[in-house]
Amino acid sequence: MTTRAKAPHYQSGFGNHFVTEAVAGALPEGQNSPQKAPMGLYAEQLSGTAFTAPRAENRRSWLYRLRPSAQHPAYSPFPQGRLRSAPFTEAEPNPNRMRWDALPMPDTPTDWVEGLITYGGTGDAEALNGIGIHLYAANRSMVDRVFYDADGELLIVVQSGDQTFVTEMGRIAARPGEIVVIPRGVRFRVDCDGPIRGYVCENYGAPFRLPDLGPIGANGLANPRDFQAPVAAFEDLDRPTECIQKYAGRLWTTTFDHSPLDVVAWHGNLVPYKYDTARFNTIGTVSYDHPDPSIFTVLTAPSDTPGTANCDFVIFPPRWMVAEHTFRPPWFHRNVMSEFMGLVTGEYDAKEGGFAPGGASLHNCMSGHGPDQASYDKAISADLKPVKIDNTLAFMFETRLPIRTTRWAQTSPLMQLDYDEVWTGFDKGDVT
Ligand SMILES: [Fe+2]
Repeated sequence: MTTRAKAPHYQSGFGNHFVTEAVAGALPEGQNSPQKAPMGLYAEQLSGTAFTAPRAENRRSWLYRLRPSAQHPAYSPFPQGRLRSAPFTEAEPNPNRMRWDALPMPDTPTDWVEGLITYGGTGDAEALNGIGIHLYAANRSMVDRVFYDADGELLIVVQSGDQTFVTEMGRIAARPGEIVVIPRGVRFRVDCDGPIRGYVCENYGAPFRLPDLGPIGANGLANPRDFQAPVAAFEDLDRPTECIQKYAGRLWTTTFDHSPLDVVAWHGNLVPYKYDTARFNTIGTVSYDHPDPSIFTVLTAPSDTPGTANCDFVIFPPRWMVAEHTFRPPWFHRNVMSEFMGLVTGEYDAKEGGFAPGGASLHNCMSGHGPDQASYDKAISADLKPVKIDNTLAFMFETRLPIRTTRWAQTSPLMQLDYDEVWTGFDKGDVT
C-alpha cells in the first residue's frame, strides 16, 4: 500500500489551470497524451463541459493514473435509501412554507452515502437543469467505498464535524463554515472521526462560478485566491473497492479490484475545491435600506437566461449592520425564485428561534415570508447604532425553479407543523 501526500495541501485560485503531481516526473511535459505516459500511467481526460464550450466556460482536466478508469465490471442497482432525484414527482407539489428541525445524528453506523437524505429539488437531471437538495448525517468513514455523481456537481456545506473529502484529485479537509465543491463525475469518499453533518446542493446545470461584480469592481464578495484546490495525492491499494454512482437519479454499484483514487498527477481547471466562508468580503449598505440578498452570493450556477440563476449559493455571515432609519432584518418579500435555507451555526437575524443549526427551511416561489413577529418587533424599536451580527452563518440555495419536496420531507417528524404561526398576530396597520 502506498499513499502519497496524506496531509492535505492546496493550491489557490478559482478557475485556474492547475498543474500538480504527487510524484516528480509523473506529468507529461508539453502534451496531454504522449504515446506512452511517464511511469506507465494512463492518461484520461475528464470533461466538465462540452468539448466545444467557449474557452471562458470550458472546464476539463487531464488525469494520469495507475489504471484506466474504464477497468471495472458492470454496474448494478444499489439500494436507493432516502436519496431522490429530479424530476421530483413522488409527492404532490406543495406551496406551503416549510421548516425542519435539525437532522439527528444517526444512532447506527452510517457513512456519508448512507446518510444522504433528499429534502427536495427541481428541474430534470437528464435535461441538465435544476438542483437536488440533500442533507446528510453520518458517523463513520466510507471504508473501501467511493462515490461519484454523474448527474451533477456537488456543493457541500459542512455543518458539523471535521470531514475529509478524499478525491481522485487530492484530499480536502473541511470543517464547519467551509464549503466543498466536487465536480460531476469526480470520485471521492468522505472520512471522519465522529459524527458529521451537512447540506448538499446537487447542481444539474452549468457549474458554479464566481458572480460578476459589476460596479463593485475588481474585488469583493468571494475573492478568487481564497478557493483552494487540492494537490495531487493518490492511493495504490490492491483491494476491492466499491464504487457507487448516481446516474439519471438512480444509484448503481460496482467493485473495482483496486482503489480508483489512483491519480498520480493531473492538470486542468475542472477541480474539486473548498472555500472558507469566513473569507467572504461582505458588502452591504453604509447609508440606508437593505440591499437584495444577491449581495451575499458566493457562487452562482447560471441558467440559459442571463441574470437568472439555476442556483445561487448565498451566505449570511457575521457582519456589521449600520443602516440608518432602516428596517434592518430581511424584509417581508415574495420571490419568483425559490429559497431553501440552512443554518450552520448561531441564529439567523430574521428568526428568533425554531431555525436551529442543522435545520432547514423552504420558502417556495411567491410564498410570502420574512421576519417572525419577535424579530419584527425588535427591529422596529431598535436603537439603530452600529451592531455586529456575530457567531452566525446561514445560507441559501436559491433557484429560479419552484422546489418540489420529497415525500420524506413532507412527512418527516422533523417538519415543524406550526411554522406558519411565526407570522400570526401582527397588528393591523392603522390608516385612521
Ligand atoms: Fe427570502
